Amino acid sequence: PMSITVRELAQRTEASPIQVIKILMSNGVMANINQQIDFDTAAIVVSELGFEAVPESLVEEEKVETGEIPLWRRIILSEKPESLIPRPPVVTILGHVDHGKTTLLDAIRNTNVAEGEAGGITQHIGAYQVEHKGRLITFLDTPGHAAFTAMRARGAQGADIVILVVAANDGVMPQTREAIAHARAARVPIVVALNKIDRPDANPDFVKRQLAELDLVPDEWGGNTLVVPVSAKQRIGLEDLMEAILLTAEGIEIRANPKGKVIGTVVEAQVDKSRGPIATLLVQNGTLEVGDVIVAGTAYGKLRAMFDFRGRKIRAAGPSTPVQVMGLSEVPEVGELFTRYDSEREARAVVEQRKQEAAAKAARAPKATLEELFSRVQ
Ligand code: GTP
Ligand code: MG
Repeated sequence: PMSITVRELAQRTEASPIQVIKILMSNGVMANINQQIDFDTAAIVVSELGFEAVPESLVEEEKVETGEIPLWRRIILSEKPESLIPRPPVVTILGHVDHGKTTLLDAIRNTNVAEGEAGGITQHIGAYQVEHKGRLITFLDTPGHAAFTAMRARGAQGADIVILVVAANDGVMPQTREAIAHARAARVPIVVALNKIDRPDANPDFVKRQLAELDLVPDEWGGNTLVVPVSAKQRIGLEDLMEAILLTAEGIEIRANPKGKVIGTVVEAQVDKSRGPIATLLVQNGTLEVGDVIVAGTAYGKLRAMFDFRGRKIRAAGPSTPVQVMGLSEVPEVGELFTRYDSEREARAVVEQRKQEAAAKAARAPKATLEELFSRVQ
């Protein structure tokens, strides 16, 4: 049976052994620092500390120092291998504020989202699909402003590939480093788009040296990071960037079971005055259909209507598809996972229980924000 000592559990969660023992006591378990506790008990402690416990047997295969495999990926790993079929890669664009993420995506999509943004600053995650040489690619655009750490983390968690946009005149900046940490924590390969090479003050070699210092050694220097010089504004290097994306996608497992368990991530959510709560979901496994009942955190509901990223009505959305849905009871939290349930009654019961647990937890545990956690791991 799986077990762990109190000491080891404290070390892995960066909590003090005293803290762990106190949580155990409050749950009716008396333990000393060398005592072995079972997985279910450890899971309670871990969740009260704000983490999620994963049995080691599930993660062993891909275990690295940097983080856990996202839950949606573990769901896919638990599907029968013969049920998995290729799906579009999900490519998340990350980088420091104003380095040109939205402009780059505009150039790839032939749109003009960047100019319409308030103050030229992206404040939410945008989800789009692009067809390139007959292959569909899902893109997530994220904000670069320092305030949006959580959105960048979630964007990386949902990705198969991260495009790290670095302005060639500005170089590696704080949120560039942060983005690299998110990609590594989510175990996602990084392709660098060295943007703004049209600028007279661009210094690509300097930026490549900075990247190499962060262990992103350009392939032309014998490393294994693809660094593609581009100008989003003048549309230079886009073809090379798409090639780099597809090349990277070939090297990794990008599959899901469209008939399997429905799971995905809330990418964006808000209240619409006339339509009620609206959420953009990224389906990651299974197929989401109109009429399905889903739960996302403490929001639930039967989906009344679904729209693709262009706003066209659709009835079903398979793996890697971003979809806008109506019919939720409340606005779900961005980054929350959603899953499908068989009935509204069951979904309501799950939500009720979550609300009670959350209230009990809020009354007990001190809260650390993701920003604080991030500054701790840096
Ligand atoms: P946030 O989402 O707020 O983090 O910014 P962003 O990374 O999406 O940057 P955005 O695309 O909004 O571009 C910021 C500014 O850089 C805009 O004024 C763009 O026109 C400019 N810009 C983007 N790409 C290029 C480029 O290749 N060359 C030059 N010269 N300017 C660029
Ligand atoms: Mg932007």
